[in-house]
Order: sequence, then C-alpha cells, then structure tokens
Amino acid sequence: MKCCAGSSCRAFERVFDASYAEDDLEHYRKHGPARATRLLLQAIQEATPVAGAKLLDIGGGVGAAHHELLKAGARSAVDVDGSSAFLAAARREAERLGHADRVTYLHGDFVALADAVAPADIVTLDRVICCYPDMPQLVGAAAARAQRVLGLVFPRDAWWTRAGVWCINLFERLRRDSLLFYVHRLAELDAVVERGGLRLRFHRSAGVLWQVRVYAR
Ligand SMILES: C[S@@+](CC[C@H](N)C(=O)[O-])C[C@H]1O[C@@H](n2cnc3c(N)ncnc32)[C@H](O)[C@@H]1O
Repeated sequence: MKCCAGSSCRAFERVFDASYAEDDLEHYRKHGPARATRLLLQAIQEATPVAGAKLLDIGGGVGAAHHELLKAGARSAVDVDGSSAFLAAARREAERLGHADRVTYLHGDFVALADAVAPADIVTLDRVICCYPDMPQLVGAAAARAQRVLGLVFPRDAWWTRAGVWCINLFERLRRDSLLFYVHRLAELDAVVERGGLRLRFHRSAGVLWQVRVYAR
C-alpha cells in the first residue's frame, strides 16, 4: 500500500471512513451489488469476455465490482482507493470470498499513482468521478489503462442531480478537507474517453440518480 497525501486524499479518508465502509460492506453482503453496479457488470460482460481478464477497479469501495468479476472468472484485480477504511473492507471481503490472493491493493489518489499502475483488460470507475475535482485527469488516466473496456457509473446530468450536489457542496464547503461532488457533462466525458481511443458501447440510466456508460477499444 502507498500512503495517500494531499487534500483529495484527506477528504477521502474523512468521508469514506471506517463506519461508512462497515455499513457498505454489510449492505453488499446482504443485498449484493447496487442496482447501477449490477447494470455496469452486465454491460461489461456483454462487451468483453471476463474469463481470465485483468481488472483495475479505481475507487473500488468495498470492492463489489471486482468481487463480482473475480467470481465470474476474471484472473486478477488491482484495487486503487484513496480511503484506507474502504481498502481494508474490500480486503476483508476478498478474504471471506477466498480470492484475496488475486487482488493487489493500492492506497492513494489514482491520478497520482497512475504511472505506476499497469494496464488492465477491464477498468471500472463505479460512482467515483462524482467525488473527484479533475474529471479529465482521472478519466483520461483510466482510459489510457483500459486495454479492452472502461465502465463508469456516475450521476445523471439532470437538474435534480445538480440541485442535490449544490446543496451537499454548500455544507461540505464549511468543513475542513471538504469533499465536493460534481455532475459532469456527457459530451466532455465522452470526449476525454474518445481521446483515449475508446468508443461508447453501452449507456443507460439506473434510477433517477445514476447512469452507466461502457466504452470499448
Ligand atoms: C462513493 S465511493 C464508491 C465505491 C464503489 N466503487 C461503489 O460503487 O460502491 C467512492 C470511492 O472512490 C474513491 N476515490 C474517489 N476518487 C479517487 C481517486 N482519484 N483515486 C482513488 N480513489 C478514489 C473514494 O475513496 C471512495 O472509496
């Protein structure tokens, strides 16, 4: 594991703390992946064979995306997360599921670590770009490492998500090490991914809040 420094990482450690990780893990164990994650996984499996694939799960949280793809036959995964509590929860779950020896854990901001992270067949950013200030850097570095498929879940570009994020950010700005949330424009996101050589393969809304986009090389 690498040490996570900088204001983004301090914010990840503050917000994505042990009690949040515990709740998320308990929810995943009881109910499986969230609806948007299930849609993402299904679209990835339709876009590329998962058997034997190498995964890169950026901001993996408790690891739902990579746990499910490892169960479906993927060979190995790298989980990069700015939250040490979420990394620890993902590792605990991998141990329980018996595939911890196939996962490598990196602690830190993916944008800072990217040069040292090997490319993977399947790269996921599941509900991650909404809490990072520099979408082009994060998505550009992820796309550059996606050898076959890049899958994202992020907030729908709608007035109600913008209003929600505006309210959350109003309170967050009052805190030290604030973690601001973002709703990105689809055209900007697509342009960044396409510059990385991938094309849109699947897109769908998942409820009122989230949308799923999968790109393939
Ligand atoms: C809302 S959680 C989502 C977790 C999981 N992917 C899911 O969908 O349940 C966002 C996670 O992304 C991580 N994260 C956000 N930006 C990151 C970055 N640039 N590098 C590493 N981790 C990041 C946070 O630490 C947090 O664990």
